[in-house]
Amino acid sequence: MSGTNQSQAAGAVPDSDQGLAAVASAYQRFEPRSYLLNNYAPPRGDLSCPDGVGPWKLRCLAQTFATGEVSGRSLIDIGSGPTIYQLLSACAHFEDITMTDFLEVNRQELRLWLREEPGAFDWSVYSQHVCLIEGKGESWQEKERQLRARVKRILPIDVHWPQPLGAGGLAPLPADALVSAFCLEAVSPDLASFQRALDHITTLLRPGGHLLLIGALEESWYLAGEARLAVVPVREEEVRQALVQSGYEVRDLRTYTMPAHLQTGVDDVKGIFFTWAQKKVGV
Ligand SMILES: C[S@@+](CC[C@H](N)C(=O)[O-])C[C@H]1O[C@@H](n2cnc3c(N)ncnc32)[C@H](O)[C@@H]1O
Repeated sequence: MSGTNQSQAAGAVPDSDQGLAAVASAYQRFEPRSYLLNNYAPPRGDLSCPDGVGPWKLRCLAQTFATGEVSGRSLIDIGSGPTIYQLLSACAHFEDITMTDFLEVNRQELRLWLREEPGAFDWSVYSQHVCLIEGKGESWQEKERQLRARVKRILPIDVHWPQPLGAGGLAPLPADALVSAFCLEAVSPDLASFQRALDHITTLLRPGGHLLLIGALEESWYLAGEARLAVVPVREEEVRQALVQSGYEVRDLRTYTMPAHLQTGVDDVKGIFFTWAQKKVGV
């Protein structure tokens, strides 16, 4: 681990930092419904144009899983938020999936969808799109059924703790794979904190296991209803260096430039990165 002291290494306390307290405080105003509308309803949620951000993210995930190299029994999604799209390709390859978030309101939003309760966000356009690009002839209803069956638990998480899931042993560890989308940079006040958070989540992954990380490039803020969240702006090369520093081999790193028509005033994101990284063995 980089930059941790002894008590942190023992898992006793989180990184103590005024910046982290400010981040945690800002998230208390996070509104899942507004976040979903800002990012997953049209125009960003319009999946009909292949150049859009949604199709790009889903394509990166589908193509990576199609290699057949990312598989195992257990997968943890870090900072799931109120979204499930990030697991639509993953769920065919892992039978035990753990979803996680810092906020109870987001965990509750996930429960609504998993239990098919009234008022749940409708992800069917995403499920249909993933079935289409995977080309396996699966129906979107089967896809959603499989994901619902394979999500075994939704847990609280704090990536600023050396043991992000606590010491309770509620998820099978170490996991065979991690997925994380738009979390680390959106909860870290600076690059050093981003690096430590990456170190922390890496402890949840077995050596040789895979991390699929998606995030915002050069973003400094985003909105979720009343909440205005600060984001640490990161560049592609900083992401690559952080992964190497945390003990990964970078298998793939791709970027997407946000087109003008998708710059909607809900954030100042310039682009997106997708990376497939494999935790090195014996380092
Ligand atoms: C930008 S959202 C990403 C949500 C979702 N993964 C997506 O792809 O849209 C960032 C998420 O990080 C969560 N979060 C905030 N503080 C956190 C922390 N300390 N540890 C882990 N997650 C945190 C928030 O609750 C929020 O759901």
